[in-house]
Amino acid sequence: MILYKNVTKRYGAVCAVSDFSLEIGRAEFFGLLGPNGAGKTTLLRMTSALTAPGAGFISIDGKRIDRNLTAAKRRLGIVPQYSNLENELSALQNLEYHGRLYGLPHERRRRRSGELLDFAGLAGRKDDKARTFSGGMRRKLMVVKALMHEPDILLLDEPSVGLDAPWRRRIWDLLRELHKQGLTILLTTHYLEEAATLCSRLGMIDGGRLVRTGSPADMVKEAGAFVLEYFEGGRTVQRFFGSRAEALSGASRLESGFRVREANLEDAFIKLTQKGLGD
Ligand SMILES: Nc1ncnc2c1ncn2[C@@H]1O[C@H](COP(=O)(O)OP(=O)(O)O)[C@@H](O)[C@H]1O
Ligand SMILES: [Mg+2]
Repeated sequence: MILYKNVTKRYGAVCAVSDFSLEIGRAEFFGLLGPNGAGKTTLLRMTSALTAPGAGFISIDGKRIDRNLTAAKRRLGIVPQYSNLENELSALQNLEYHGRLYGLPHERRRRRSGELLDFAGLAGRKDDKARTFSGGMRRKLMVVKALMHEPDILLLDEPSVGLDAPWRRRIWDLLRELHKQGLTILLTTHYLEEAATLCSRLGMIDGGRLVRTGSPADMVKEAGAFVLEYFEGGRTVQRFFGSRAEALSGASRLESGFRVREANLEDAFIKLTQKGLGD
């Protein structure tokens, strides 16, 4: 459905995205997982046609977005990392405004905004100005705003950054429900838990390059199901093994201070990139 073909984007000397190729299927819940500076936002901005690739192209159902801009924009709902709400407008007015920008007729705007505010649990606050909303409520409003023109693809840039755990879960539930309703979702994140719990398939991105794709479970398995961790030469060393027994035998020469545990996505990321997801 969404095809990235050798997409490259440079900013001066910085190669933000480098020879990135990927296909995302209809109704997938795809996560781009990578640390800060990996190129996630640049990729989403190019997918939303906010900026153009320097080389390569992106297409939706075989149509290059740069040559079918209007059609592409209708199909895409975009939730940027930073607020795109009008603070002095109410929640309802924010949705109405978006609907007007996309040329929705009055009746449809009204019906759709009502349904979406209900869906997001914001109906009770529909006449309050966006600036009075908490971070989590704002994020919910941003999600339903992106859905006003009934896109079939939702792009989200780090949708739960800055939210506390309960709100993060509320956003996750909202996204899960939308995916269940048939929406194709592409999100970026540097949260392992978010990637592992929401996404059916992940792409690990580092330094603008797609280093691996697969299900969260497959990536962990591939890295090695068990990790032997110990401190040596001033740093924590991680070694990967297929079984707990192998990991323990790998630890036999170590005297103390080692740990054997099940591997997680972070380990997979470290193994594939030789560095962690931290900033
Ligand atoms: N508009 C820009 N001008 C210059 N450099 C940029 C710009 N946008 C992104 N970059 C650089 O491109 C790289 C990737 O950035 P970004 O896509 O924002 O990564 P992420 O979203 O994964 O944190 C970074 O090194 C960043 O500094
Ligand atoms: Mg970003």
